[in-house]
Amino acid sequence: MMTITLITGANKGLGYETARRLIDLGHTVLVGARDPQRGTTAARELGATFIPIGPTDDGSVQAAAARVRNEYGHLDVLINNAGTAAPRLGAEELTADAAMEGFAINVFGPIRVTHAFLPLLRAADHPRIVNVSSGVGSFHRILEPGTVENAVTLPVYPATKAALTMLTVQYARALPGILVNAADPGFTGTDFNNHRGTQTVTEGTDAIVHLATLPPGGPTGTFQDRYGLVPW
Ligand SMILES: NC(=O)c1ccc[n+]([C@@H]2O[C@H](COP(=O)([O-])OP(=O)(O)OC[C@H]3O[C@@H](n4cnc5c(N)ncnc54)[C@H](OP(=O)(O)O)[C@@H]3O)[C@@H](O)[C@H]2O)c1
Repeated sequence: MMTITLITGANKGLGYETARRLIDLGHTVLVGARDPQRGTTAARELGATFIPIGPTDDGSVQAAAARVRNEYGHLDVLINNAGTAAPRLGAEELTADAAMEGFAINVFGPIRVTHAFLPLLRAADHPRIVNVSSGVGSFHRILEPGTVENAVTLPVYPATKAALTMLTVQYARALPGILVNAADPGFTGTDFNNHRGTQTVTEGTDAIVHLATLPPGGPTGTFQDRYGLVPW
């Protein structure tokens, strides 16, 4: 039986590496990307199928869900990975309108995609959702002197990831038939941080791959990095 896995923002960075690794593990990976050119190129390189999906664009999400329903009839694994650190504005400059950009993709994106794909996940034998959160969404890590997260003072990005982690906990409670977990990749070199991240993309996808391949009866409502549970 094929394992059908959809990854948003899979045209580069952690999403791309997650796609590569899950294909290696035998998943049928649908490479989600908002841009057809970037998505097609990535899918061709990976030997996978491109699916246009921009989590902030309702029409594209509905079309993607309709296509997966028609072509596969179910979805085993949903990986909400697309995200941004924007707007990179401090508290003094931050306006509500500017903050919308970060919340739109990091928080409302996963809600929109999860809502659209829930019927397809329910049609799978052992459905899993992985929300790609961040250690900067952990109050413990942000407040702990000496951590990478402690140095971060941008208001919006950490707030979006704290929201995504809490959504994960709430979805896990509400959806007992689905394993819903949040991953903290760790500080990983991608375009996201102009490749200042110290981990390789393979290290950065360990938690995502682990949570995407959990066996039936595995944990749900957890927040994990490559070393194990992340403190809330
Ligand atoms: N790298 C790290 O150190 C790190 C640490 C913790 C958490 N994370 C999280 O990991 C996830 C992936 O990050 P990454 O490091 O792989 O970053 P990346 O290389 O910049 O990739 C981000 C992906 O998200 C997509 N995306 C961004 N904004 C979007 C929007 N408004 N609509 C649709 N797609 C959008 C991008 O598409 P385009 O190519 O079309 O822009 C791209 O596919 C993010 O959720 C990020 O918050 C990263």
